[in-house]
Amino acid sequence: MVSQISEAVLDEIADALVDKGYILLSDIIPDYVSLALLEKMQTEQNINFKKAAIGRGIDQQVNTFIRSDKIAWLNNQDHIDREYLTIMSQLKDGLNRRLFMGLFHYESHYAVYEPGAFYKKHLDALKGSQNRLLTTVFFLNPEWQEKDGGQLVIYDELDQPLDVINPLLGTLVIFLSERFPHEVKPTLKTRNSIAGWFSVSNAAINAA
Ligand code: OGA
Ligand code: MN
Repeated sequence: MVSQISEAVLDEIADALVDKGYILLSDIIPDYVSLALLEKMQTEQNINFKKAAIGRGIDQQVNTFIRSDKIAWLNNQDHIDREYLTIMSQLKDGLNRRLFMGLFHYESHYAVYEPGAFYKKHLDALKGSQNRLLTTVFFLNPEWQEKDGGQLVIYDELDQPLDVINPLLGTLVIFLSERFPHEVKPTLKTRNSIAGWFSVSNAAINAA
């Protein structure tokens, strides 16, 4: 079964991106999808997950002072990954129709933050081709309290905290990648999420 994002919700997301550059949504992805994603993460965590790197290409390196999560990329061959990617594809088409963003490519990875793990303040937009325009972060933790840490903190251009978000199952955060530094506070409990990025095509960048 493939879920649909309604036109009204797409309008709401597009309006928020224009007005303030980010939005939090809590019921865009059905619970059965979130729970299946979580179950997949939990069964594969010790097998397919690798220490996350920063940078790209030749500059890519594992730097555990900056981030200490472990990741695995989603792929279209897997049926539960495909379910999530299909929803993200609807988001892409809906935003392109409304905002002419030219979103083209989407890549996303599962991330597990073991107790003590964090991701220091950073921007997702990387220099070079296939620049990231729009970030999505989807949380997969059925229970979470303030004291568990692991909050996603979003900062404004002046480095003032704008929002402190508990990584609760079903919450999707969408923000403009170039505009918002953000960080994952050290977590005290195992914390599961899926981070993803829409970028424009190489052809579009080369023509600009
Ligand atoms: C990232 C990121 C946040 C999260 O991977 O770039 O900011 O909550 N992730 O997983
Ligand atoms: Mn990030």
